[in-house]
Amino acid sequence: MNSENIHTLLLETRNKALALYSNFHVGAILETEDKQLITGFNIETSSYGLTICAERVALFKALSEGIRNFKNIYIMGDGKSFCPPCGACRQVLMDFAPNIQVILMTEEGKQQTFQLSELLPHAFDDKFLKK
Ligand code: THU
Repeated sequence: MNSENIHTLLLETRNKALALYSNFHVGAILETEDKQLITGFNIETSSYGLTICAERVALFKALSEGIRNFKNIYIMGDGKSFCPPCGACRQVLMDFAPNIQVILMTEEGKQQTFQLSELLPHAFDDKFLKK
């Protein structure tokens, strides 16, 4: 899918977010090396702390379907600003997709690209657990 189509799908995904409490809508799309797309949006509940971010919804959907080999994650929040992934999502992405490219998009079509390792330097991962 080209960047324009990704942008459209990201917008559609974000607009379906279940964000009744913060009213801040986020969409994420994971893209695999073989071009599969997995979408996610943030899901909030009346017990606020149980909220799950768009990025982790997309990632857990994919993992539970047996999908791996992630190449890119596209993220769009509300408003004109870029929406960088929160610290918790950076950690979870690092565990399952350490080489992923993180592409932030705005509604207006601006784009910013990072390697996950730039967003989470000196990361903790499973290597520290294996002595
Ligand atoms: N949120 C995400 O879904 N992804 C991010 O990267 C940042 C924050 C959600 C969590 C919550 O539902 C709302 O945005 C406000 O924090």
